[in-house]
Amino acid sequence: MSDKKLVFYGNETLAQVAEPVSNIDGSIISLIDEMFEVMYKEQGIGLAAPQINVSKRIFVVDIGDKRVNRIALINPVIKEFSDKIEPYEEGCLSLPGINADVLRPDAILISGITPEGSEVEIEARGLLARVFQHEYDHLNGILFIDRIEKYIKDELKQELKKIKKMSKKAG
Ligand code: CO
Repeated sequence: MSDKKLVFYGNETLAQVAEPVSNIDGSIISLIDEMFEVMYKEQGIGLAAPQINVSKRIFVVDIGDKRVNRIALINPVIKEFSDKIEPYEEGCLSLPGINADVLRPDAILISGITPEGSEVEIEARGLLARVFQHEYDHLNGILFIDRIEKYIKDELKQELKKIKKMSKKAG
């Protein structure tokens, strides 16, 4: 079982630019396994390493109901964005209870390295493109609430404060 735990808004690692992975060794493979474990347990559809307090450029995604479409990307880079922008209500395991519409490009081209060490390029649109962009933001210390209008963020102030408090208690 994993001893890795989710961290929440207010945690420092979440606000940092994560470090590139230089070598895919056994520790990276077990980290990715742990990330899937935490993501499935928390019923998320994506999880970035900083969300379990590890400042590395890795995320995992599975948007399917059957939970068998595992995608793990190491050192991902978003290479192209569509001109078409769409709103969609996002949430985040590190911001429990908070949802807000976020505008993002509808389609992207993303590259990265798989746990097996192969370089891949994925063309994604809709929900998959959305989740990739959300997780990619985590690797740069950006949360979805950093991409919403200020007046909406202001409306969430009290809830954000509560999460920060909880985050402090958890250490
Ligand atoms: Co998130």
